[in-house]
Amino acid sequence: MKIKSLLYSFSLVMLMTGAAFAAELPKVTILATGGTIAGAAPSSTQLTDYKAGELTAQQLIDAVPSISSIAKVSAEQIANTGSGNLTFEDWLKLAKRANELLASDACDGIVVTHGTDTLEETAYFLNLVVKSDKPVVIVGAMRPATAISADGPLNLLNAVGVAGARESCGKGVLVVMNGQINAAREVTKTNTLSVETFKTPDFGMLGYVIDYKPVFYRTPVRKHTKDTEFDVSKLTTLPRVDIAYQTLGGDVDMHKASVSSGAEGLIEAGSGCGSLSNVSRAVLTEASKNGLIVVRSSRTGSGMVTPSSKDAEPGFLTADNLNPQKARVLLMLALTVTRDKAEIQRMFATY
Ligand code: SIN
Repeated sequence: MKIKSLLYSFSLVMLMTGAAFAAELPKVTILATGGTIAGAAPSSTQLTDYKAGELTAQQLIDAVPSISSIAKVSAEQIANTGSGNLTFEDWLKLAKRANELLASDACDGIVVTHGTDTLEETAYFLNLVVKSDKPVVIVGAMRPATAISADGPLNLLNAVGVAGARESCGKGVLVVMNGQINAAREVTKTNTLSVETFKTPDFGMLGYVIDYKPVFYRTPVRKHTKDTEFDVSKLTTLPRVDIAYQTLGGDVDMHKASVSSGAEGLIEAGSGCGSLSNVSRAVLTEASKNGLIVVRSSRTGSGMVTPSSKDAEPGFLTADNLNPQKARVLLMLALTVTRDKAEIQRMFATY
């Protein structure tokens, strides 16, 4: 009888522990940087001309009480500003803190809240320097937190749901907005005001968020996160890389200014398939001889820039299908490792 009741209590304990384990919530840390998701306007009907980066990380969480039923959430404030004001120092602080947290058992995933204007740049930067398979999700909003039908609260709930899900592991940094999941390398902001602004022009999104859970349909194939050669742990800043824009009849003073004021690299937002005017090519050929790394990308918004014999001759590289702002991120990181052009071109084909 005694043995029977002992066995009974033992199975009861096992059952309870099993239930507790199954119900254990993922631990998600929110690293907040500001943006419209934390923005405020004087009235709920004012959807433009508001102030970005007004609410704290804790206020964002408090606005979504149901978050506590899907994850154990903690928050840290990395910055609180419009994303156009973020600096390389902010990036490095964010990346280093993310790596610290992800290395610990106290964190299953990270959500970065961010302004949407430069969100794709930070997403790709983190995609190249985070050293973990655990999910890192970056999220913003198109309407300030004070707005009628603000999109921030649902976006945040979805981001936390995706960051806490096992299916999100190993897919690189994910951008979650408007119920859609896009890959950091591929996504771009396409509309100044619409909540459906983040899109992946060449390949489409990775999946949906349905009731705060991710549903994936494809996965990125370019190397990312722990499979890259970039290590920012000891960096205090990043090399300067400028972007120059090709226009019909445009002059080359901007190119010259970049060169004379100390840029180490230049991304040319070329017309069409990364085309340069003859005058631009002449200035950049000279600069390239003096050590400037020139990479041709395209201002078209999608598609691959292919090699051209005219531009291979002076040693210009190509950005694959990265848009100019993402090509800049990769070139900055590449320059922390090497100045060898063949090596840098390999990186553009790898990441
Ligand atoms: C910003 O990028 O900080 C402002 C715009 C936005 O978050 O949508």
